[in-house]
Amino acid sequence: MADLSVEFCGIKFKNPVVIASIETTNSPEVIRECVDAGAGGMIIKTLTDIEDMARLTQNSKYAILNEKNEPIRGKVNKNFVFFSRSGYSSMAYRDWIPYLKELNRYAEERGSHLIGSAGGKTMQSWVDICRTIEDCGLPMVELNFGCPHPAMMPGVHGGSMIGQEPQVAAEVTRRVCEAVKIPVVIKLTPDQSRVLEVARAVKEAGAAAVTATNRYTGFSVDIETGEPRLGGPAGIGGVWAKPLSLRWVHRIHTELGMPITGSNGIYDHRDVVEFIMTGAGLVQVGSVLMLKGIKFLPKIVDGLAEFMDSHGYANIESMRGIASRRSVKDYGEQFRKARMHSEVNHDTCKNPSCTICIQTCFYDSLFQGEGQVGHLLGNCIGCELCTQTCPFDSMFMHRTSEEQRASGGFFSIGEQVFETGKFSKGFDRKLTLSKAKA
Ligand SMILES: Cc1cc2nc3c(=O)[nH]c(=O)nc-3n(C[C@H](O)[C@H](O)[C@H](O)COP(=O)(O)O)c2cc1C
Ligand code: SF4
Ligand code: SF4
Repeated sequence: MADLSVEFCGIKFKNPVVIASIETTNSPEVIRECVDAGAGGMIIKTLTDIEDMARLTQNSKYAILNEKNEPIRGKVNKNFVFFSRSGYSSMAYRDWIPYLKELNRYAEERGSHLIGSAGGKTMQSWVDICRTIEDCGLPMVELNFGCPHPAMMPGVHGGSMIGQEPQVAAEVTRRVCEAVKIPVVIKLTPDQSRVLEVARAVKEAGAAAVTATNRYTGFSVDIETGEPRLGGPAGIGGVWAKPLSLRWVHRIHTELGMPITGSNGIYDHRDVVEFIMTGAGLVQVGSVLMLKGIKFLPKIVDGLAEFMDSHGYANIESMRGIASRRSVKDYGEQFRKARMHSEVNHDTCKNPSCTICIQTCFYDSLFQGEGQVGHLLGNCIGCELCTQTCPFDSMFMHRTSEEQRASGGFFSIGEQVFETGKFSKGFDRKLTLSKAKA
């Protein structure tokens, strides 16, 4: 059976699935349940001395929506959108001290880890909270520079407000790293364009790893009443956010090479695999456990093991980052790839009753011929759209061989597209055809 264990920042995890800092980790009882359910680790709900952020948690509001932006009642599936507002831990961080010590012991005895999370009011409180976490024996701490809510709280400074400012983020990181010996992980905000810049700044300031990412800020409307859901802006996430999170995991892994915990968009083991293949060493599971209960966790861990067994991955490291390594560095590489063109399987095609491919070919390559789909290969750029829009699987792709290209009639990238009056072959035909259609 595949080995799920991972070494992350010098700490051994029995599996890479860690419970995110969220309501699930706001109570000692539920944290114990997470350990018992087999979590690799749990990140405590952000510990704070900001009274209003604790008050916000006691006023939490939630809306679970489906892909049509309608409220979900009952069963939550993979398309859910979680629109919600909550703060930091509802208990003052000093009151957590006895629990942190006891829960840390409970976790370690069962091969799991309790990880700290901090969100301070002042520079000194960031340091004090992290020292408290270290003194209680926790092996790692995450600094929450990603929370979307402080920005909406009058008089509060924290979360994404810090995570959007590389210099401020670096300064808080540096002060905490000077004060504690345990690895410091920075939780990044995706609510900005400078994620990579912030990651670089905190790395240089001493961060051992980053979490990519916390959630976005959103706005959602109930169109029946015209009211904004939850009264206005709130945090928003769901599996729809996964590719956006992976974009940053990919960039940070590729350009900074630092350890990453992946967060924002995990529902099941397939999402976990995607984060790991992009470069994450640990993954964080948040909303899905709030909405489906802790009993869903073993399905994720077991699913990961089964996937690795069935796909021949002996350990996590053999999967980690493989997709990022195979990625193009820039779009220019695409121009140098082998050309492809589509072909029609006239035996299975339902034309003329179906014309979907013709309608969705924006390169004027497909047209309505006499009782069947006609194909101008000189216009086919090999975009593959028709193979995916055909409901009868009757379009398929072929690699354009050198002989075919030499024989003519196949699309090749024009070199003079931008020279006035000189269109490439494909472009020329497109104009002629468009005129003919008109
Ligand atoms: C209700 C709620 C409360 C959260 N509270 C915290 C928190 O206290 N600290 C923190 O760092 N992140 C917090 N998060 C963000 C999660 O830890 C996680 O990064 C985010 O939900 C994305 O992961 P997911 O798609 O698995 O939910 C919270 C998220 C939600 C939905
Ligand atoms: S592959 Fe793209 S360009 Fe070629 S026929 Fe299909 S949709 Fe048109
Ligand atoms: S979409 Fe498929 S079935 Fe429909 S006309 Fe095109 S090839 Fe034929």
